[in-house]
Amino acid sequence: MKIIMLGAPGAGKGTQAARVADEYRIPHISTGDIFRANIKGGTELGKKAKGYMDAGKLVPDELVCDLVADRISQEDCKDGYVLDGFPRTIPQAEALDKAVAAMNGKIDFAVNIDVPDEAIVKRMGGRRACTNCGATYHVEFNPPKQADTCDVCGSKLVLRDDDKPETVKTRLSVYHEQTQPLIDYYEDQKILVTVDGTKDMEEVFSSIKEKLGA
Ligand code: AP5
Ligand code: MG
Repeated sequence: MKIIMLGAPGAGKGTQAARVADEYRIPHISTGDIFRANIKGGTELGKKAKGYMDAGKLVPDELVCDLVADRISQEDCKDGYVLDGFPRTIPQAEALDKAVAAMNGKIDFAVNIDVPDEAIVKRMGGRRACTNCGATYHVEFNPPKQADTCDVCGSKLVLRDDDKPETVKTRLSVYHEQTQPLIDYYEDQKILVTVDGTKDMEEVFSSIKEKLGA
């Protein structure tokens, strides 16, 4: 199954993509996590991406399209994958369609996690992310077993640099301008499913499974 997770920053794409990946035993590919790993590793790509990310803007399409096309052509993606945070612009969606068609495949579902802006702002301040494996928590809604420590790998949890309230505002307006048009794009392709992302995490996951027919 080839799945795209759509939604505003903080809608729960990462949270749900991890569950979907587990359920279907397919890789979870988050472009945000790939960039953060590159920033941490001090790579050229990381250096190029950092300024955009810290400002809450999108990294240019040319830095992300080839990277994803290459990632989905790898052996572990042959039975599918869940893309989290890609595509985010119409040119990215077109590049993805082209890359998938070149491998004789097609995207099965685009899952839109719908959450209004007011709820997003509240969520972001409470998010904590693992500096090592990228796992995501929330101080109130999904706390780790031990404060500030990742349940999965034991590393330190931090507030992401781009989760400051001013940056969250920029990210939301970038989302409305550049990413929201993808909802119509996938509606036209008849592969869009929408779930109410304001419910608790387990309920959101159940609705996703139901819509994917699992
Ligand atoms: P990215 O890392 O993708 O960030 P984002 O889209 O802003 O999304 P987030 O990761 O902030 O939110 P999420 O939807 O994954 O929510 P989460 O599950 O964590 O991208 C970062 C940056 O990288 C971009 O700004 C851009 O610069 C660059 N970039 C990445 N991809 C790119 C691309 N394709 N093109 C160009 N640039 C790109 O949940 C949020 C919080 O809420 C968590 O604390 C979670 O525990 C909690 N939560 C989740 N679900 C619920 C629930 N149902 N109820 C209560 N709390 C919940
Ligand atoms: Mg995420």
